Amino acid sequence: MNEQQTIKIGLLGLGTVGSGVYKIIERQKEEMVKKTGARLEIAGILVHNLNKVRDGVDTSLLTDRWEDIINNDEISIVIEVMGGIEPAKTMILEALNSGKNVVTANKDLVAEYGRELLDAAENNGVDFLFEAAVAGGIPIIRPLKQCLAANEMDEVIGIVNGTTNYILTKMFEEGMDFDEALEKATELGYAEADPTADIEGLDAGRKVAIMASIAFHSRVTFSDVYTEGITKISARDINYAKEFGNVIKLLGVAHNTEDGIEVSVHPMMIPQEHPLASVRDSFNAVFVHGDAVDDVMFYGRGAGEFPTASAIMGDVIDVVRDIQYHCTGRISCTCYRETKVKEFREVKNKFFLRMQVDNKPGVLAAIASVFGVHQVSISKVIQKIITDGVAELVIVTEAVKEYHMEDALEYLKDMETTREISSVIREY
Ligand code: NAP
Ligand code: HSE
Repeated sequence: MNEQQTIKIGLLGLGTVGSGVYKIIERQKEEMVKKTGARLEIAGILVHNLNKVRDGVDTSLLTDRWEDIINNDEISIVIEVMGGIEPAKTMILEALNSGKNVVTANKDLVAEYGRELLDAAENNGVDFLFEAAVAGGIPIIRPLKQCLAANEMDEVIGIVNGTTNYILTKMFEEGMDFDEALEKATELGYAEADPTADIEGLDAGRKVAIMASIAFHSRVTFSDVYTEGITKISARDINYAKEFGNVIKLLGVAHNTEDGIEVSVHPMMIPQEHPLASVRDSFNAVFVHGDAVDDVMFYGRGAGEFPTASAIMGDVIDVVRDIQYHCTGRISCTCYRETKVKEFREVKNKFFLRMQVDNKPGVLAAIASVFGVHQVSISKVIQKIITDGVAELVIVTEAVKEYHMEDALEYLKDMETTREISSVIREY
């Protein structure tokens, strides 16, 4: 090992995560030498707005020209923390093709173009690492690719979006309304620049696509993932969840079954005693089941400046070690199978349905018959009188195929006695 080598880093982005990376590199300056035998030096930082005030940052390093970083031959590691597909994709490909190692937190990019980026890294014999792209500070990519590599994995399920978990926790525990909780999550740096990706389940969908690809050794892209967000969850649903001993969580679910990969993101009622129910605030958790290891659970902070920078820096330290031992590009794409992704309509789930109906004889029997015709088996029914003439009906089903439930709902919606289908939430 070449002691005291200086390894130069180019940082693309200096927002929430980039600032955390900058601060860790600064505060760990001397420790890094002891940890890796090399000195890390930031040689350039790409930003959008050169005039923004950035406390504690050496402004001489800032540039708004990405070529300053990608064409700098002294830089051997590029850290991409800008986000979005373009121009990040072009910059990363340019960096890889010019022999630079790349570390990124960009799940949008990896979930859609992972294969292309990993192929470019492999062709150039460099590292392309993305631990921070899934579940913030929690180590999950490396465990799936390395520590658990001996397993045949069939299940990856978890809470992988800090913003929505924070919102649901505040709604559930403090009765906070959705907008106020989202505002606080944004202030804390958890939410994406456009929080639609968080609250509509797209961010979690990207993370689940990445985890499923690695766990099941077959490429799953974001477009394969069924996604549904938390914007329709109401205080009434939360009250019912409490009454039934449940909590509501936005879950990413991936199964490798005999007839294909199932992959989705949606709110789910889960029993309060389930380990995922106690994952609160911006914390994330991922369950993995492997044939040899059995159940494993990973838990930690899923978003924020330092947790995410921690994952980035773990990758950077790995790259530094690989550079020193001349073995960059060691672990590339691990998708050696081509398993089909099942259509979501064929997946089986249990449902919690809340609807407002006319309160008169025969209505419940007619609804039960619609379910029967569509092969939806009912496990629980509760009826509460809300106002004169209108009853709130809550029905919980057994596990049924998505399309059977969808067909039954279409029919129920059009019944004369149905005032409103208020919510449909899957149950664990
Ligand atoms: P952010 O706060 O919005 O920061 C983005 C940074 O990139 C800013 O410094 C911005 O410059 C710069 N930038 C954006 N577009 C640019 C362009 N076209 N040219 C030059 N500079 C550009 O974002 P973030 O929250 O740090 O997230 C960064 C990445 O990490 C994203 O991929 C995100 O999904 C991922 N991630 C975030 C978290 C989290 O908790 N925030 C957790 C895990 C992963 P200015 O400063 O001049 O505006
Ligand atoms: N917006 C994301 C979240 C950041 O809330 O989990 C981590 O990717």
